[in-house]
Amino acid sequence: MTLVTDPKAPRVAIVGATGAVGNTLIGLIEQRGLRYRDMRLVASARSAGTELTVDGVAYPVQAVDEFDFSEVDLAFFSAGTEASEKWVPKATAAGAVVIDNTIAYRMDPDTPLVVPQVNAHELDRRPKSGVIANPNCSTIPLVRLLKGVEERWGIRQAVVSTYQAASGLGHPGVEELQDASRASLDHPEEAYPNKEFTPSLAFNVIPKIDRFLDSGFTLEEQKMLQESRKILGIPHLDVTTTCVRVPVVNGHSEAVWIETQGVVDRTELVETLAALPEVTVHDRESPREFPTPATIDDRDQVHVGRVRVNPNNPRAFWLWLVADNLTIGAALNAIQIAEELIARETL
Ligand SMILES: NC(=O)c1ccc[n+]([C@@H]2O[C@H](COP(=O)([O-])OP(=O)(O)OC[C@H]3O[C@@H](n4cnc5c(N)ncnc54)[C@H](OP(=O)(O)O)[C@@H]3O)[C@@H](O)[C@H]2O)c1
Repeated sequence: MTLVTDPKAPRVAIVGATGAVGNTLIGLIEQRGLRYRDMRLVASARSAGTELTVDGVAYPVQAVDEFDFSEVDLAFFSAGTEASEKWVPKATAAGAVVIDNTIAYRMDPDTPLVVPQVNAHELDRRPKSGVIANPNCSTIPLVRLLKGVEERWGIRQAVVSTYQAASGLGHPGVEELQDASRASLDHPEEAYPNKEFTPSLAFNVIPKIDRFLDSGFTLEEQKMLQESRKILGIPHLDVTTTCVRVPVVNGHSEAVWIETQGVVDRTELVETLAALPEVTVHDRESPREFPTPATIDDRDQVHVGRVRVNPNNPRAFWLWLVADNLTIGAALNAIQIAEELIARETL
């Protein structure tokens, strides 16, 4: 039970509580024993009045447009970019610190973009904007590994292909993948009316996530470059990405090629990666072991495998990573930010 009377414990709101990230956040608050003195669950007017349980206590979901943020010290936002643009300023003006899961504030110079295993020092003081941004779900596991490689060998370039699950688009993405897959088996002659994925994701892969930019890259690909630079504090970091949606329910994967300044030895590389916080290297003992989204057991770890130094160039190597996008890529990172804020008394 983490509902406490301690006046130092924050009053917490979860905006987007009924969504995929919100549900995961509630589970992690229970699992990690985050201490709070009041809990409010918030979503759109569509969900107002429904009940959700946190730590065994049932709470009514409140509509965001009727919600009073002055009753809250810490607000987690995962209700989409539009909702964050509209309601985060109201929350911070009322005195709450916001941890935002959307793209709305990530590149704002007054808002730190934080992955606690990489740049927790950004949380030493309360940000000017009152907001801490949670990075993109594919950026978080990548920068956690890049940090270790940069510190030991220096990075010249990283080339990344992502394999991103349907749950990256929340509950609607998962439902559409499941329904479209069933429909294409039962009625292969009929076109399924997709809304979330175009073309259909059923038995398909789609090399486009988010909208196209004039550069030919997608916004998702641009996010991975800009956010990695900001989090690692390396303004000229060269990261280039192809982001691909795959018919996996949950769990993003990435094939990562890194060129380094120094010569890399595989044994040292594996040990360096394995020593990073909350990282599991599967091919530490046997190069035949590798993680997949369906087989990883601990959803709170970044899973690494297929670590291969290029035999033609020892300053370059491949690795494969798998990270749960709802935990590592969203809710867990947000909770870990909250834990750091509470430990530093910067709320
Ligand atoms: N899924 C991921 O892996 C992931 C990772 C990183 C970041 N994010 C970001 O997190 C946010 C939520 O994603 P999700 O996957 O949880 O989506 P989701 O399952 O579709 O849930 C969306 C949540 O937002 C609420 N909502 C939608 N429009 C709203 C509005 N105008 N006002 C108030 N609440 C509103 C919904 O409430 P109702 O139930 O009332 O509609 C629901 O609680 C998105 O911005 C997404 O980009 C997602």
